[in-house]
Amino acid sequence: MTHLSVMASEVVSALKPQAGEVFVDGTFGRGGYTRALLDSVACTVWAIDRDPEAVRAARDMAGNYNGRLQVIDGCFGRMDHLLAERGVNAVDGVTLDIGVSSPQFDNPERGFSFRFDGPLDMRMSASGTTAADLVNEMEEEDLANLIYRLGEERHSRRIAKAIVKARPITRTGQLADVIRSVMRKSHDGIDPATRTFQALRIAVNDELGELERGLRAAERILKPGGRLAVVAFHSLEDRIVKEFVKERSQKGQGGSRHLPETKQSHEPSFVDVGRRMPSQAEVQANPRARSARLRFATRSQAMSWESEAS
Ligand SMILES: C[S@@+](CC[C@H](N)C(=O)[O-])C[C@H]1O[C@@H](n2cnc3c(N)ncnc32)[C@H](O)[C@@H]1O
Repeated sequence: MTHLSVMASEVVSALKPQAGEVFVDGTFGRGGYTRALLDSVACTVWAIDRDPEAVRAARDMAGNYNGRLQVIDGCFGRMDHLLAERGVNAVDGVTLDIGVSSPQFDNPERGFSFRFDGPLDMRMSASGTTAADLVNEMEEEDLANLIYRLGEERHSRRIAKAIVKARPITRTGQLADVIRSVMRKSHDGIDPATRTFQALRIAVNDELGELERGLRAAERILKPGGRLAVVAFHSLEDRIVKEFVKERSQKGQGGSRHLPETKQSHEPSFVDVGRRMPSQAEVQANPRARSARLRFATRSQAMSWESEAS
């Protein structure tokens, strides 16, 4: 259950850490980015994760860094609140590595994978709605729409119908078999259950909502000159990051949270936007890196577009 960090050296290059600076790693996982930052210069990292196992791993690691690694159990969508509660109101860099970690994916008990049988859970944190709750309780049409939208699955209606017929579904293996029973084997060798599992995972963890909140929270907490570096694996997630940095790096009009009907004009809150793909050597060593995209940007002097936390 090892976890190979993806694009860690590119993330550190984008964050340009200097001694004495303060960073947020919003997705600690097994600490690949945090370790790379802490080992590069004498900086401090606030590591956030919502997975209790990741938080335990972070606390173990903190002992090696003499106060330079601080650990928070929580969601990165609230990073500005979480840090303010601890007396930190501005930081020099924020990084996010969106998605599931290998230890989460490879543990059948977490229920993320159709490759192993386990309870149909998929929660990154220890609480909230499970994937079993969704497949057993949603209306067929809502389930089909969820699988279509978050899994980009063309056969979502057929799959939702089969799921509803097979209820109750409590195991990953059972769900995968139900999906496979109504789908033709694909020529590219991709398991027919892939997209449905992805859709359920994104829904269970509100991954897209968290990403949007996380980007806005990063905008609020980054100092002028602070750096943002986000790695995404999935086109839905990468699109959110791309559109956020594109919008925020132009002059724009946005609504006020207090007065949504009032349009405000905004100066660009991010400059020097860039993008990197993984190197061929990394993709060869770790095929999971294949679809990774790093997007980065530097916080300008301008006020954040939304001053209020959601
Ligand atoms: C792909 S892994 C990160 C791997 C990490 N960069 C490393 O090198 O080990 C994603 C991690 O982010 C966590 N995570 C995902 N969404 C989160 C959120 N909204 N708030 C906090 N943690 C989150 C997951 O629990 C998981 O541990």
